[in-house]
Amino acid sequence: MLLVLVAGTSSVRAQDTPDYYRQNCLNCHTIGGGRLTGPDLKDVTKRRDTEWLINFLQNPKSVVDSGDPYAAKLVEESRGVVMPIAPGMTRYRAEQLIRLIEAESKLEKSQFQGVKISNRPFTDADRKNGEAIFVGIRRLKNGGTACSACHSIYNLPALGGGRLGPDLTRVYERLKGRQALSAWLMAPATETMQPIFRNRPLEAEEIHALAAYFEEAARHSESDASTARITFLLTGLAIATGVIFVFDAVWKERFRGVRRPLVEDSVSRGPDSHREKTS
Ligand code: HEC
Ligand code: HEC
Repeated sequence: MLLVLVAGTSSVRAQDTPDYYRQNCLNCHTIGGGRLTGPDLKDVTKRRDTEWLINFLQNPKSVVDSGDPYAAKLVEESRGVVMPIAPGMTRYRAEQLIRLIEAESKLEKSQFQGVKISNRPFTDADRKNGEAIFVGIRRLKNGGTACSACHSIYNLPALGGGRLGPDLTRVYERLKGRQALSAWLMAPATETMQPIFRNRPLEAEEIHALAAYFEEAARHSESDASTARITFLLTGLAIATGVIFVFDAVWKERFRGVRRPLVEDSVSRGPDSHREKTS
């Protein structure tokens, strides 16, 4: 009985740090699988001494703000993203994590080598699928918000809320191709997107389809979007005018038919009739 207990506790301890890593670090870092939002952590203990790393994990921003040139370079390479402080981070936790990363770096294939980015060639079906996901015709499996709520793209001019994020027509080039774009989509690290997608990540298949769509989009120019936007606006205007006419007619009809008797009714019963009924 005692033996079982001891074995149980020690395995829980051993599980603890990898689990913590999986929950808080995995979507921004690989160990030996290349850069995601943050750098590949393989052999990071050879690049920096342990004390520096422990300090950095406890408060990345303060290290960056202190003017540390190495940290400044890391931020620049990460397109300005500063690593957040992980929940419940302590000095002890940081030491354990650095020890884990060091041990994993020595393995030929770390369990944290990273999420697989598909290498399958893009097909027409993928591109269509990607467009459907972008617009929201196809719902995101984990419940993220459709891209078109905030982004426009060459053939989908956006109005209103759809202008919050940048136009994504050329994003395939901007983020330097399939690998980097796919990795970026696994853990979008912008202030607007991270809160939405951290707990509702895109699935590998969705990323594959979106990458296919963005690759095609990059063959167009953003000015296509403004042409499309004008056409869209004009069409929209024409439809809106039509709708207003119809609505106007219907509304007048309904007002006569329904609203007037209702209004007259409540006027005749007086403003207190509702209160009397509920009390
Ligand atoms: C939102 C993405 C994100 C998360 C989550 C994240 N990091 Fe980072 N990490 C970064 C970025 C970006 C950098 C580069 C420095 C910077 O820009 O702040 C970095 C840098 C580092 C470095 C220094 C790398 C080097 O090459 O010197 C270490 C070590 C590190 N992170 C470990 C961790 C650990 C451990 C966790 C989990 C507790 C974690 N990170 C969680 C984004 C992240
Ligand atoms: C709630 C609004 C919102 C939603 C929904 C959203 N994004 Fe974003 N996205 C943004 C904003 C804002 C930025 C710009 C962030 C910045 O400049 O830091 C951005 C940036 C990006 C970028 C980087 C662009 C660049 O040029 O660096 C990509 C790629 C991207 N979004 C893809 C997507 C995809 C794909 C979806 C749908 C799965 C999506 N976004 C859904 C708001 C959103």
